Amino acid sequence: MKRKVLFVASEGLPYASTGGLGDVVASLPKALCQNGTDARIVMPLYDTIGQDLRAEFQFLGSINVPLSWRNQYCGVFEAKKEGVTYYFIDNEYYFRRGTLYGCYDDGERYAFFCKAVLEILPLIDFFPDILHAHDWQTALSVVYLKLHYSGIARYNNIKAVFTIHNIEYQGIFSLGILSDVFELAPWERNIVEWNGDINVMKGAIECCDQLTTVSPRYANEIKSPEFAHRLDPILRDKQYKTKGILNGIDRTYYDPANDPDLAVRYTHKSLSGKADNKRILQQALALPEWADIPLIAMITRLTPHKGIDLVKRIIDEFLNDDIQFVLLGTGDAEYEAFFRDLEARRHDKARCIIKFDKKLSKRIYAAADLFLMPSRAEPCGLAQMIASVYGAVPVVREVGGLYDSIKSYNEFTGKGNGFTFANYNAHDMLYTLRRAVGYYHDKKFWNRLVQRVMAIDFSWKASSAQYTQLYNELCSYDNSCPPNSFA
Ligand code: GLC
Repeated sequence: MKRKVLFVASEGLPYASTGGLGDVVASLPKALCQNGTDARIVMPLYDTIGQDLRAEFQFLGSINVPLSWRNQYCGVFEAKKEGVTYYFIDNEYYFRRGTLYGCYDDGERYAFFCKAVLEILPLIDFFPDILHAHDWQTALSVVYLKLHYSGIARYNNIKAVFTIHNIEYQGIFSLGILSDVFELAPWERNIVEWNGDINVMKGAIECCDQLTTVSPRYANEIKSPEFAHRLDPILRDKQYKTKGILNGIDRTYYDPANDPDLAVRYTHKSLSGKADNKRILQQALALPEWADIPLIAMITRLTPHKGIDLVKRIIDEFLNDDIQFVLLGTGDAEYEAFFRDLEARRHDKARCIIKFDKKLSKRIYAAADLFLMPSRAEPCGLAQMIASVYGAVPVVREVGGLYDSIKSYNEFTGKGNGFTFANYNAHDMLYTLRRAVGYYHDKKFWNRLVQRVMAIDFSWKASSAQYTQLYNELCSYDNSCPPNSFA
């Protein structure tokens, strides 16, 4: 019998995505399905999902979802993408906001979503073996499953996996709305209470059968105050059920040999195609068409944990060297202003494109020689893997998933697939960048390094097998409550 897994997520490509979460929520189930698991996804039907995508939707029906004193309409749509079934929860009051996150009532919106996920199971006729929830927006689906549904037949043996993609966002709310918005009774308060507030991520950490994070290193890091954003005591407590599994990337989508967004396609055997992509990007951005000067790229959200402060500190000094610098990303206004100004100041060598543009991002990966990711914290990071596949050699800080995926080049052993530095220090980073640029000028060496980097397997193959094993282990024991006769 096929193992049934329901992914509960606030975003998933190609329908909605603001970052790495959307990639993973789409590509992991796809890999699982290819290996014999019946993995499906449920997410909100945001108004930002375009008509072109909606054209393929099928309406399955509607129910009403009770939550505390509210009783809301919930339509259910279904779509199939590359062999994977997606379900969409429709409620225009909650999800017609022109944006995914950042509304004053996000707590209520996602509480509704989480409750709806459990309520629609009879309608979609899919009772999973595993409910796999991702990040704080879906944390309450785990809490409700274990506190309110585990006494009901067909729900009573569903195992819950909760994955932390980013611990910075925990879903923190005033205790005053415990019952009114979250439908939790006073005697359930201890499950979600943390530092005098409601913290829904903490609730899922308490209730899940298995906690995972997106890299082994991050699973370790979040046990310490430096990384845990105040959740470290409970994460130390729950380490017996915590596991880090490194993300993969979708190699059909990220493939320079077959990428429709590239003007010239290439493989590790035809690197001249990569040089063409560099020239084409330089032309498009009106940068001097230098072939033998390294092009260093960053594609990132402009937020503090991405290490932007390190770049700010040294970029002017670095731009005095023979290099070109291209940045693509959006984020905090202060950083956006800095990089707009940098482009104006250093128009000879730097371009900073302040937007989120998937197509352009792939053209930059294909053009770049080096890819910089100096994160202060990085749960997994996908960009360093995508960069590798496109032959842009990563320069990263040794943290989280960057540590697990990129090993520094060692001139004595000849091993390594990038350049790394340990301390959160701007001049350590600059030193490492210059070390990499030094190697870049040895053409023969560099081509061999690029070829090796491009050949590394960053697909989901190994990691989806680890998830399958984890699901199997969870299902092999029975910790269910007996179904309650009142249900
Ligand atoms: C979050 C993390 C990032 C990770 C992604 C997917 O965006 O910040 O490191 O790669 O989730 O798991």
